[in-house]
Amino acid sequence: MRYFLIAGNWKMNTTPAEATTLASTIADGYAKLQPNRNIHVLMCPPATSIHAAHEVVKSAQGISIGAQNCHQEPKGAFTGELAPQMVKAVGCTHVIIGHSERRQHFGETDELLNNKLKAVINTGLVPIYCVGETLEERQTNKTFDVIQTQMATALADITLESASQLVIAYEPVWAIGTGLAATSDQAQEVHAFIRGLLAERYGALAGSILILYGGSLKPDNADEILSKPDVNGGLIGGAALQADSFLAIIAAAMKVQ
Ligand code: 13P
Repeated sequence: MRYFLIAGNWKMNTTPAEATTLASTIADGYAKLQPNRNIHVLMCPPATSIHAAHEVVKSAQGISIGAQNCHQEPKGAFTGELAPQMVKAVGCTHVIIGHSERRQHFGETDELLNNKLKAVINTGLVPIYCVGETLEERQTNKTFDVIQTQMATALADITLESASQLVIAYEPVWAIGTGLAATSDQAQEVHAFIRGLLAERYGALAGSILILYGGSLKPDNADEILSKPDVNGGLIGGAALQADSFLAIIAAAMKVQ
């Protein structure tokens, strides 16, 4: 039976009250799907809704809460930022690191992300490290170079022991929020490449590192994309904001298992 992580990135959506409703609807629907130990569901609300969502799922089986970002320092004069310890203390088990929106709008570099990854792992949280090429990079055949650089710089000094905590998300920038997902073959090709890079660095452990696909993952393409051997789950934006579509993607993962 294959293991899948199905993660929702809610981005800058939901008040705490809305998060309670969405998380409850998802948790109730998931309980009815006869969950098994090889499917794990994650919801990543905005920071102000983490507590509300965590209250809903804290006693649910197989559902956890993640943050969308955190700072690399444990505390200090960093106005507006949240330390890894802080998001852990409000119930997060995972943190998305290096989403393309953070790279694009907030200037996050691979060097910074390397520090964030180390801080997150040292805090006992699971980072979901995002990589992916822009449309221009794909069209000029730079996809593999871009991914290689994003992986090499951000994973520098991350030991084999720490890497067991790592999750990678392949999110082609051109597929995010566009309705135009990568084809399952395109996803598999890049996932296999990422697994190869992980194998060079971490040997046999690479086989058990989860690589999620993100970018317009929807109920109607989930079966096909999730059925590819190197796709271990999804990081879902728009479709994670509707309980029905998020649950349909979870159901697709169960079917593929
Ligand atoms: P969409 O599913 O809305 O394309 O967003 C993907 C994403 O950015 C998840 O992190």
